Amino acid sequence: MIGKLTMQHENITNHTTALRAAGRKDDRAAAAAAAAVLGELLHPHTRLEERGLFAEMRTDEMFTEHIDSLCAEHEVIDAELAAICGGDLSRVDPLLNLLANHIDREENGLFPAALVYLDDVHWDRLHEPETPDAGAVAAAHGHSHPHGVGHQHAQL
Ligand SMILES: [Fe+2]
Repeated sequence: MIGKLTMQHENITNHTTALRAAGRKDDRAAAAAAAAVLGELLHPHTRLEERGLFAEMRTDEMFTEHIDSLCAEHEVIDAELAAICGGDLSRVDPLLNLLANHIDREENGLFPAALVYLDDVHWDRLHEPETPDAGAVAAAHGHSHPHGVGHQHAQL
């Protein structure tokens, strides 16, 4: 699970290049397209985190506050992407900074903590096939698009 989430982070990070370039060129159409691609990659990823790993860790009050702040950042990232899709290029740099910092907080904070604190019962539950959305993320095209961003195939 941690390996899968980390690989998804890498893929998401790789796809920020197009958005950064579009922002520098002041190209709204290219920025909107790049933000839509990022949204397509992020939504199945954050669902998997929030309904899987985060849900398991939140049951320990030591992590509740930290996970709430990560979930709040997911919301802000979504709002920033929507603003960029709407043509607001002033949000490109804040979004890129937030995304990089957010991924760092997960990979260097929460994920190592999960490896230390979650026990076999937690991991077994996380790896059950019926873990919400695990199948949808693995499937080539099994996800819905509740946020109304333009659809392009995610390269997971
Ligand atoms: Fe993440």
